[in-house]
Amino acid sequence: MASVTSLTASVHQRLADALTAALPEAGSADPLLRRSDRADFQANGILALAKKAKANPRELATQVVARVESGEVIKDIEVSGPGFLNITITDRAITENLAARYADGERLGVPLVEHPGTTVIDYAQPNVAKEMHVGHLRSAVIGDAVVQILEFVGESVVRRHHIGDWGTQFGMLIQYLIEHPHELDHQGGEVSGEEAMSNLNRLYKAARTLFDSDEEFKTRARRRVVDLQAGEPETLAMWQKFVDESKIYFYSVFEKLDMEIRDPDVVGESGYNDMLDETCRLLEESGVAVRSEGALCVFFDDIKGPEGNPVPLIVRKSDGGYGYAATDLSAIRDRVFRLKASTLLYVVDARQSLHFKMVFETARRAGWLNDDVKAHQLAFGTVLGKDGKPFKTREGETIRLVDLLDEAIERATTVVREKAEKVGLSEQEIVENGRYVGIGAVKYADLSTSAVRDYKFDLDQMVSLNGDTSVYLQYAYARIRSIFGKAGDRTALAHPELELAPAERELGLHLDRFAETLEEVAAEYAPHKLAAYLYQLASLYTTFYDQCPVIKPAPAQEVAENRLFLCDLTARTLHQGMALLGIRTPERL
Ligand code: ARG
Repeated sequence: MASVTSLTASVHQRLADALTAALPEAGSADPLLRRSDRADFQANGILALAKKAKANPRELATQVVARVESGEVIKDIEVSGPGFLNITITDRAITENLAARYADGERLGVPLVEHPGTTVIDYAQPNVAKEMHVGHLRSAVIGDAVVQILEFVGESVVRRHHIGDWGTQFGMLIQYLIEHPHELDHQGGEVSGEEAMSNLNRLYKAARTLFDSDEEFKTRARRRVVDLQAGEPETLAMWQKFVDESKIYFYSVFEKLDMEIRDPDVVGESGYNDMLDETCRLLEESGVAVRSEGALCVFFDDIKGPEGNPVPLIVRKSDGGYGYAATDLSAIRDRVFRLKASTLLYVVDARQSLHFKMVFETARRAGWLNDDVKAHQLAFGTVLGKDGKPFKTREGETIRLVDLLDEAIERATTVVREKAEKVGLSEQEIVENGRYVGIGAVKYADLSTSAVRDYKFDLDQMVSLNGDTSVYLQYAYARIRSIFGKAGDRTALAHPELELAPAERELGLHLDRFAETLEEVAAEYAPHKLAAYLYQLASLYTTFYDQCPVIKPAPAQEVAENRLFLCDLTARTLHQGMALLGIRTPERL
């Protein structure tokens, strides 16, 4: 594995050196290098530095130019305007840099982070005995992409699926199951996810009806909650049935999403039961939490209700029961002290931001979080319907996630089928590609807007072949791959001695930025910037392909080889980038 210094980084280094030589008091000042339309790069930092040093900006810029080594990497550097620098790279440096990336297998020259830490990421956390909805989709899709990206840059990642598997509603469900013992039994054979969910739904409805109509059942159900919290064995065994049945369902949905969720990483709310007492004791002893009207609470100066009265975080209710906050605080202790996390990341709906703000502040006061151990909520917005309103059925019900996924696959399969004959796809390939395209479309739509923004769930747009969609990127990839079938005995080979056409340079400079993009994406937990990068890559490739013939009319041998090399590197970058987003790129489409 060999990480490759990007052209931006080499130019940056050369400029910074020249700048320090010309203006020693600038120290390690940033020349502010950006990609530019006028040249390959523009440096905008000189102006501000000159002002600070009371120097003439154009003069300083001229001095920097005189000190920059031009040659192997920099072809041309000139002062423009009041003191900007325009920099052009040599064609040779572009091709050589790309060749080094090409030689680095699937890492494509991307370096590992210098000081990797351990990130515990909390994502894909549906609730037991309940349907999964689009909110759970977002957490799963964004979380999975962030996991892949962080691991790729060398961070240690621990996954936690904090499923909702605890709470008073289980008293009712368990009591009902005890009184109707065979409701969750299976008649042998594998149970499908759909069956598991319909069993749970049926049971939930029946239990609810009885609970609402039968006072004696209600009393028994309430007593059952106490048994559950006390860990009474028969009650626990029944509870476990609900968890197991739900997991069958969750796994079927995650599989449909083409996502790997591992059983040991599923540590739900119940997993922290043994810690709750101690968490409360620690908070009370340290004075972080205080008793208020019988409950154990944490107060905040800046968090007030509508009437200006303080809104506390309730760690233990006045009846002694523990809620969501106690569990999350215990989970923080587990993740920091046992799993040795340096970063805690929560991929959770923005509507829970106040909860996390209070939980994190409490943990900071308790000393569990500090400058070395940070917590961050990667908050995501709401999924809206085509009409821009929260996504509901016409009857006002929440839309089931599985139904959406099935519809996406169905539409995608239609799109794939229309083109299938031309490509000569078999029925099996059509079905498989339909899944990859449909699921990819859903994931990409979610990942290509910044997480915190709401987005419209619009299947027509998602599976469109034009525009910023995964299908567009998948077709771009497959088209490149198909070129290699027509290349005959010509193979991909870099020729640094060749002059490059403008479209080749643009494509090349963008390919070289893959590593920088990933670094930024990983540091900011911003998969949408990777999506934007890939979309631009596909667009630059299209221009290149229009302007620079690869196969027909046949260019000279070396030119063809160098272009095939650009094609292949583009394909591999697309493939790797999409994989990091959790999206497949079929070879034939
Ligand atoms: N199960 C919760 C829900 O469906 C999300 C859990 C988020 N994670 C956490 N540590 N609180 O809304």
